[in-house]
Amino acid sequence: MSFQAHKNLQISVYFLLSLIDKVNYLTKGSQFGNLIVMESYKLRKLFLDFFEERGHKIVPSSSLLPTDPSVLFTTAGMQQFSLYLSGRKDSAKDFGSKHLVSCQKCFRTGDIEEIGDDTHHTFFEMLGNWSIGQDENGYFKEGAIKYALEFLVDTLGLEKERLFVTVFKGDGNIPRDSEAIELWKKYGIPMERIMECSKRDNFWGPVSDTGPCGPCSEIHYDRGEHLGCGRTDCGPNCDHCKRVVEIWNLVFMQYFKNEKGEYELLNQTNIDTGIGFERLLSLLQGKSASYETDIFADFISQLEIVSKTRYDDNKKTFRIIADHIRSSMFLISDGVEPSNLGQGYVLRRLLRRMIRYSKLINLKPKFWIEFVLMMIDKYKDIYPNVMSQKEEIIETIKREEEKFEKTIQSGLGIIEKMVDKKEWSGEEVFDLYQSYGFPLELSLEIAKEKGINVDVNGFNKALEKHQDLSRAGAEKKFGGVGKDSGEVGAKLHTATHLLHSALRKVLGSHVKQMGSDINAERLRFDFSHTEKMSPEQIKEVEDLVNEKIKQGLLVKKEEMEIDKALASGALAFFKEKYPDMVNVWTMFDSDSEEVFSKEICAGPHVENTSELMSFKIIKEESSSAGVRRIKAVINQ
Ligand code: ALA
Repeated sequence: MSFQAHKNLQISVYFLLSLIDKVNYLTKGSQFGNLIVMESYKLRKLFLDFFEERGHKIVPSSSLLPTDPSVLFTTAGMQQFSLYLSGRKDSAKDFGSKHLVSCQKCFRTGDIEEIGDDTHHTFFEMLGNWSIGQDENGYFKEGAIKYALEFLVDTLGLEKERLFVTVFKGDGNIPRDSEAIELWKKYGIPMERIMECSKRDNFWGPVSDTGPCGPCSEIHYDRGEHLGCGRTDCGPNCDHCKRVVEIWNLVFMQYFKNEKGEYELLNQTNIDTGIGFERLLSLLQGKSASYETDIFADFISQLEIVSKTRYDDNKKTFRIIADHIRSSMFLISDGVEPSNLGQGYVLRRLLRRMIRYSKLINLKPKFWIEFVLMMIDKYKDIYPNVMSQKEEIIETIKREEEKFEKTIQSGLGIIEKMVDKKEWSGEEVFDLYQSYGFPLELSLEIAKEKGINVDVNGFNKALEKHQDLSRAGAEKKFGGVGKDSGEVGAKLHTATHLLHSALRKVLGSHVKQMGSDINAERLRFDFSHTEKMSPEQIKEVEDLVNEKIKQGLLVKKEEMEIDKALASGALAFFKEKYPDMVNVWTMFDSDSEEVFSKEICAGPHVENTSELMSFKIIKEESSSAGVRRIKAVINQ
C-alpha cells in the first residue's frame, strides 16, 4: 500500500470509530438510571425555563473577570449578586425581581496541573437560582428544597431513591440546621439518606475574605453500585470512589463574614444555589467524564482525526488540549491578554501547556485554529462575545504561540547537540524544563524517538533541589516558629500553620499560639486551651490537617504592613514584637478560593501543602496552666 493510501485508510478508521462512539452515545442512553438523555443546550434551557416559569428573571452571565479586585476570576454564580445578597443594593430595582436565575461562566484556577482527570476543568458553567430577601412572594429553605427536587425528579427524571443530601451539623455560634433536616424529610428524603456534615463541607462562602455566606445543603446522586468502592460507609463525599456525585449546592445565606472574621447575621435571608453544569450533564448522558459529553464530542473526534491517535490511548493529552483551548477562548473574549502577572499569567500557562501537550501527539503549530472555531460555534448563541471577539482570540493565541515557539526552538537547538549521547542526565533534562519550557514528558518523547535513555530520578532530584534553593531564599528574619530553614523545616512550619487552623476549627477560636519550636524530627506547638483534648478531637484535628495536605492547598506569601496584615485577619503570635513589614502566609484551596489558614510568619514554607505527605500527632499534654502542648510529625 502506498503511504498516502495507508494514511487515508488510517484516517477513515479513526473517523469510523468516532462515528460509532457518537451513535453509541445517542442510542444507548444512560447507564445510571431512568434518566432523560439530553444535549447540553437542552439542559441549559430546561433549567432557565423552569425557574422563569416560576417567576424568576433570567440574568445573563457576567464576565469571567469580576469587578471585585480582591478576586482573580468569577468562581460562582452569586458573585455578580454579592451586593444584593448582602442587602446593600435592591435587586427588584435593578433586575425587576427578587428571584433570579442564570447560567454563569466560571473559572477556577485549581491546580492547573490536575486537569486531565474525569472531573476537573478550569472553565465551567454554573446553573443557579436566587431568592434575595424575603418579600411576600419570597422563598427560603423550603422553596429552594421544593424547587430543587421538582427540577431533578420531575423535569430531569432523576430517581428520588438515589438522592442523598448533606446538611450543616453546627459549629460554634452557628447552630445545626435542623430546619433543613425536617424539610428534606417532609419532601420525602428519609433520614438514612440525610448526612450531617461539618463546616468545611456544609458552610459556603464568602468568595473573598469578607462577604455573604451561610450553611448549605448539598444534593448528591448515587450513580450505582458498580461504580462504588464497596465500603460500608461509602456515600456523599466518599474519599475512595465517585459512586455518589454532588450535583447541587443550596446555600442558605444568613450571615456576613466581616473584616474581623466574625459572622454577623444579615438583615435578610437569601437563597443562593449552584449546579456544576458539566457534572450534571455527564450524569444525564451516562458519562463519567464531561469530556465525553456532547460539549466535547465533536472536538475529541476531530482531534483523533487530525492527530491520527485515539482518545482512549491519550486521554490526558486530549483533555488538556480541550479544556485549555476552551478556557483560553473564554478568557480572551472577556479581555485577558497573556502576560507574566495575575489573570494574564494564568492565560499564558494555559496556552503554553496546551501547546506543549499538542506536541506529544505531533500536532503542528496553528492546529488549534479549527478547534477554537468549533468552540466558538458551540457557545456563540449563549455567550455572543466569543463570536464578536473571534479575530482577537485567534490573533492572541497566534502571538503567544510564536513567542513560545521561539523559546522551544532554542531548546531544540540544545537538543540537536545532545542527540549523540546514550543518556541524558537529570540536570540536562531539568535545564530543558527550567529554561526552555520542555516538560519531562516531551523530553522523554524525543529521547525515546532517538533511542536515548533519560535519568528520570536525576531529573526529580534536580527539581527538588531547585525547590529547596528557592525556599532557602525565604530565610527567617525574626522569631516565628523555630530556626531551622531546610526542607524539613519548611514542611514543619507549614504543618504548624495547618495545625493551628485545624485546632481553631475543632476546638474553637479561643485557641491561640503560645509558643512553638521545630527541630529536624518534629514540631511542638503550645496553645491556649484549658481541657485535655479527647482522642476524638485529636483524630478530628489530624484528619483535617491530612485532608488539607491531600487537597494540596497553595501556600502564598505576601509582604505587607503589620497593621494591614492584622486587619486582614491574619493570625499573629501575640508574644511576638513584629517589625513594620511582615510576611503573611495564606494557604488556600485554589479550586474554591477558600482560605484555610492565614498567619503572619517569617517562614520559610513549602509551596503546596501536598509536599507534607501526611501528618500525625504523637503527644498531647499540659504545658502550663491553661496551655496545652502538641508534638507532631509529618511524612510518616
Ligand atoms: N455559591 C454556591 C456555590 O458556588 C452555590 O457552590
